[in-house]
Formats: sequence, structure tokens, C-alpha cells
Amino acid sequence: MNIGIFDSGIGGLTLLHQAMVLMPREKFLFYADTDHVPYGTKTRDQVISCVNEVIRFMAEHDCKAVVIACNTATAVAAEQMRSRYASFPIIGIEPAVKPAVAESGGKRVLVVATPLTVHERKLQKLVERVDDEHLVDLLELPGLVEFAERGEFVSDSVTTYLQGRLMGYELDNYRELVLGCTHFNYFKDTFRALMPPQIHMIDGSLGTVRQLMRVLDARQELLEPPAETGMEWQQIKNDICVRYFESGREITDAARLGNIAQLHERLERMRKI
Ligand code: DGL
Repeated sequence: MNIGIFDSGIGGLTLLHQAMVLMPREKFLFYADTDHVPYGTKTRDQVISCVNEVIRFMAEHDCKAVVIACNTATAVAAEQMRSRYASFPIIGIEPAVKPAVAESGGKRVLVVATPLTVHERKLQKLVERVDDEHLVDLLELPGLVEFAERGEFVSDSVTTYLQGRLMGYELDNYRELVLGCTHFNYFKDTFRALMPPQIHMIDGSLGTVRQLMRVLDARQELLEPPAETGMEWQQIKNDICVRYFESGREITDAARLGNIAQLHERLERMRKI
């Protein structure tokens, strides 16, 4: 059976990439809802309807679990989807606010995400629950999703955009930067260059994949990773089985698959920053 992973666009490859590294024997379906990207500037109802379409697709494609690799879709739709599709687990990613606050040593924490995630009650409740000392600030960065979908990861425009959005934050007072949108991982090198060195970047993809593994293990549906640990990406990418879809249409074109392979290479570099 498959593990279905989806996002509005290429952001979800961040989570797929992490899952491929930790679960190299599994079979994955990756679905980018490119007809409807971006989610982060839509209404709740629009996003719920898009997510419902995707999960129905996953249900029809032999999935033993579905991962919502989109902080925005998780915030808006995960609970509803869990009650609607009870036959397989639905795991969602959320901004890694809790570990960031725990590791901040009393310094400030900046959470960057889409406008919808920032305004959703789910994130606000999470912050209220873990931020006793009022250390957390939330910042919307909708422009990064557009840059990412255009394949523009490093450019003067990206740097200028981020400098403009970060202006007004006294970054020396911060210790943690939470990447609360899966598209933002593509920009870790630019964030790194703009941030003072003491700022540590964190995102929810590793925690979400570990949660997926725990859930599958509890259901006795986890394929054991190979005995040899620490497999290299170069080996994993050749052996693993992944099918890619764009809003329900399978990607078979060699040029498009080559483009996805390049995105994985970039994510492999970003994973090590
Ligand atoms: N990648 C998504 C997230 O993690 C959403 C991006 C968008 O479509 O706005 O929030």
C-alpha cells in the first residue's frame, strides 16, 4: 500500500524528501494541488474543498496513511478530514513552535507562515499553550510561495522581499526561526545569510515523519527500514518508488520528472543547513 503525501504545490516535497530518507522501503504518492496553489491566501471554505478532493483521491489510490504536508491545510482542514475519512490515519504538519520555544533559552522566537496559517485559531491556540513568557512573534510571508512555485529560490528579488518583511524585527533578540510553511525550506540558504548566526531554523517535517512512523508502527503497517542505517540520498533516490501527481494528473513527462529531481537535490542541500 501507499503513503499519500500532499501539498498545494512543491512545498510538500520537503516532507516527502524527509520521509524518503527515513522510510526508504515504502511506496509514496505525492500530490501537488497545482491547479489551486496557493492555499495560504484563500478562504477556509475554499481550502477545505480542495483538501477534500485530494484526500478522496488518496482514498481511491490504496493509501494506508495520508500526510497533509501543508501547514495551512492542516490548520484549516485536518480535523474535519479525520472525521470524514476514518479508515486510514491522516497526519498533518504544524509549525514547530513547541520545540522552538523549548530551545530558545528565553530569547525570542519568530514563526513565519502563510496568512491563513497565521490567522487560524489552531496556531493561535498552540502559541497560547506553549508560549508562557510571550516570546513568540508571527509573521506572514505569502510572497515566498509564489517565488517557490516559479522556481526562483535565490535571487535579488527574494533577498529584497525577505529584507523588507524582516525590517522592524530586532533579530539579535531572536534565537529560533520556525519555518511554518513547507515552501519556505527552499529558502534556507537566503534565510541563513540574512539571519544573525545565533538564530537556529526549525520546521515541522522531521517531527511529522516521525509521527507518521509511530502511527504506522502502532497499526503494524510500517515497513522496517533496511538494516543498513544512514543510507545516502544518492542511493535512496534510485531505489525508492514514488509516483507524482499534479491535481490528479500523473506526471510522466521526463522533463517534469527531471525538474522534480532537481528540487529534491536542492532540498537535500537545504536539509543540511
Ligand atoms: N506549503 C503550504 C504550507 O505549508 C502552503 C502554501 C500555500 O499554498 O499558500 O502552508
